[in-house]
Amino acid sequence: MIVESKEAIKVEKTTLDKKFHLISYGCQMNFADSEVVASILESIGYSNTNTIENSDLILLNTCSIREKAEQTIRKKLSSIDHLKKKNRTLKIGVLGCMAERLKEKFLIEEKIVDLVVGPDAYRDLPNLLKEVNSGNDAVNVLLSKDETYGDINPQRFNTNGISAFVSITRGCDNMCTFCVVPFTRGRERSRDPKSIINEILDLENRGYKEITLLGQNVDSYLWYGGGLKKDFKNASEIQKKTAVNFSKLLDLVANEFPKMRIRFTTSNPQDFHDEVIFTMKKHKNICNHIHLPVQSGSDVILKAMNRQHSREEYLKLISKIKQILPDCGFSHDMITGFPNETAQDHELTLSLMEEVKYDFGFMFKYSERPGTLASRKLDDNIDEETKQNRLSEIINLQQKHSLENLSKYVGNTTEVLIEKESKKSNDHWAGRNEQNIMVVFPKKNLHPGELVEIFIESNTATTLIGKAI
Ligand code: 5AD
Ligand code: SF4
Repeated sequence: MIVESKEAIKVEKTTLDKKFHLISYGCQMNFADSEVVASILESIGYSNTNTIENSDLILLNTCSIREKAEQTIRKKLSSIDHLKKKNRTLKIGVLGCMAERLKEKFLIEEKIVDLVVGPDAYRDLPNLLKEVNSGNDAVNVLLSKDETYGDINPQRFNTNGISAFVSITRGCDNMCTFCVVPFTRGRERSRDPKSIINEILDLENRGYKEITLLGQNVDSYLWYGGGLKKDFKNASEIQKKTAVNFSKLLDLVANEFPKMRIRFTTSNPQDFHDEVIFTMKKHKNICNHIHLPVQSGSDVILKAMNRQHSREEYLKLISKIKQILPDCGFSHDMITGFPNETAQDHELTLSLMEEVKYDFGFMFKYSERPGTLASRKLDDNIDEETKQNRLSEIINLQQKHSLENLSKYVGNTTEVLIEKESKKSNDHWAGRNEQNIMVVFPKKNLHPGELVEIFIESNTATTLIGKAI
C-alpha cells in the first residue's frame, strides 16, 4: 500500500503488548529520529526491547550517505531474515534515508521487509503498522514542507541520562554534488523555538546537563512561523521582522538554561554568521567547539562539489573564530578521491589541514551516490588504490595533529562533564571537555552529571588521561 496522505489518523492507545527492537545507523540525526519513532510506537502500546529475538517488530533506521553504509544494512537484513521463519508474525521495517532512496523497491526486490518509511513519515507509523499487522505491505516515503516533529517528545532510549540531542532543523538545501541527503531528507525547514525550549526544559527537569542542537546545517536555522527555508522570501513583513536565526536561537537557549552545557552540529562555512561567534563568546555555557566540514582544500574540487565557499574564505573564517575564541576546538569532515582530484588537489587538502590543525576529523573515500549531480555529471575516475592511499595520508596527518593538540593539555587542567563509565576500565569515568575531547580519570567519589576540573597527565590521539583535582 502506498499511503497518499501524510496526515496520521489518530490511533487509540491500546494494550497491544507488542515489542519493538530499533537499530540505528549513520548520523546523529538518525539516532535523534529513532527517539521520535520510539515515542510514536510507545504511544500506541509498543514497548522497546533490547533483545532482537523477543521482538514483534524490528526496525532499521538506515543511512545512505556512502555505499558501504547501505551494504552494512543489507547484510543486517540478510542476517535477521531467519527470525521470520521462527516467528511468523514478526514484522521487519526499514526507516530513514535508505527507505527514502529505494522506496518500495525494497519490498519488491528484497521481499524481507514489510514496512518502508521515509524520514518525514514517522507520524504515519500507527496506520502503516495497522496495515502491516493485517498482512499487507506498507510504504510512506512522502517528504514534507513543514514536518519537524516539534510536538513529539523523543523517547530517550539508550541514553546516558546526561547529554541529549535536540533537533532544530531537518533537511538540507545546500546540494553539495556528492551528497544524497537533500534527496533523502528533503528541503530545509526549522523547528519552532518554543518547542525547542520546551524539549530542553523537559530534559533539564529530568537531570540532563548537556544538549547538542542538531541539524544538517544549523547555521541556516530560520524560524519565521513554519515552512521551507527557501520560501522565507514570501514571508510577511511581520514574519521577517520577528524571524529567529541561529545566533538568536543560541542566545535564547543559553539565557534560558544557564546551567545546561550547549553544543551544536553541523556548521557550514558559507552560512556561518559572525554573530554566532559573538554569542559563543558571550555565554560561558556554550561549548567552544565547532564541527566545520570543509571536504577538500582545493578550490577546483570545492567548486565541483558546489560547496559555495573557497579555501581562502574557509581559512579566513577559521582564523576569525580563533581570534575571537582562542581556545575554540575544531573538527572536520574530508573526502578523498572526488572525481578528477589530482595529486596537487590532494596536496592542497593536506596543506589546509596543516594550517588549521584540527583536533579531530571524519575522513572518507568518495562514494558515488546514485541520483546526485556528481554521479550524473562526473566520472568516478579515481581508482580505489589512489583513494585509499590519499585517505591513509590524511588520516595519518590528522593523527599527528590530534596527538600534538592533545599533548598541549598535559600539565594543565580542563573542565569535564562526567558522562559515563570509561569503556576500558570500570574504575574510571569518561566525559568530554568544552572542545569535545574525551577525558578519562579515576572515579573516586565523583558522579555522572558533575562538572569537574581534571588535571591532565598524558594523552593519546583521541583521549586525555588525568585525575580530578
Ligand atoms: N562520499 C563520501 N563521503 C560523503 N559524505 C557525504 N556524502 C559522501 C559521499 N558521497 C561525507 C561528507 C559529509 C559527511 C556527513 O559524510 O564529508 O560531511
Ligand atoms: Fe550533504 Fe552538503 Fe547538506 Fe552536508 S551540507 S548534508 S554534505 S548537501
